[in-house]
Amino acid sequence: MQINSLSDVCGAEVVGLDCGGGMDPEQFQAVRSAFNAHSVLIFRDQHLTPDQHTAFSKRWGDINGHILTQYLLPGYPELLVVSNKKDENGEPVGIEDAGRYWHTDVSYEAVPPMGSLLYGLEVPPDGGDTLFASQYRAYDNLPQDLKDRVAGLKAHHRFNYTQIQTEDGSARKPLTEEQKKQLVGAVHPIVRTHPDTGRKALYVNPGFTDRIVDMDEGESQKLLDALFGYATDDAVVYRHKWHVRDLVFWDNRCLMHHATPYPADSIRHMNRTTVAGSIPV
Ligand code: OGA
Ligand code: MN
Repeated sequence: MQINSLSDVCGAEVVGLDCGGGMDPEQFQAVRSAFNAHSVLIFRDQHLTPDQHTAFSKRWGDINGHILTQYLLPGYPELLVVSNKKDENGEPVGIEDAGRYWHTDVSYEAVPPMGSLLYGLEVPPDGGDTLFASQYRAYDNLPQDLKDRVAGLKAHHRFNYTQIQTEDGSARKPLTEEQKKQLVGAVHPIVRTHPDTGRKALYVNPGFTDRIVDMDEGESQKLLDALFGYATDDAVVYRHKWHVRDLVFWDNRCLMHHATPYPADSIRHMNRTTVAGSIPV
């Protein structure tokens, strides 16, 4: 097994590990420390069944389902399908427009996931890259007065599904009443400390963070916009260009990510598991 850094911001590839074959304790420790060092790991050339994908994901924690149950792989409630394929009735088999904006997965829940593992079964020749932004770097780059200002502040996160669903070209269906009831939103610290590395990271994202708690709305928007500028600065971004059969494991506690578009006549088909996390502090 070899681990090669792909950028000095975040991202490393792991070559020569069969994630379907499991890991011995030494390999597990090596992968774990690489994950903490690089925040996103790309396991190349994987040949995984849905069960193997899930089993590998479980090495890192419990698996979360997803509120959008209509996009779970039939028979595999732990796998979310991210795809532009259609079934025989012309219905989408997965979320086609997943994460086309800067976000951190599921930050609108009280206990958001530690990581996500996205497996590229079919990838377009051009486009459809995934961008990752290091929120350690974003925090480090804040001027001291901004660090002082956000220390101790909290922000509210919510899943603005209606806005996504009604955007031009979205094939998404409205939520059921049951799904709507689950979307209560959550409040998290603006700066969180990573439980494994002890490093501070920004934890607000344009996708799901709508306001800072106990702050005038205009002020809140101004401060969020300033933070988003640091959070999405090119200097903190790594662009992942997919190879078919990459398994990409990213850390939601210190990264944001962003899917980029691709031509409508190419296929992009992926499965994702989501590993449970802890309450951000
Ligand atoms: C996700 C996501 C990005 C992509 O699956 O959580 O945001 O590039 N996907 O598909
Ligand atoms: Mn995502």
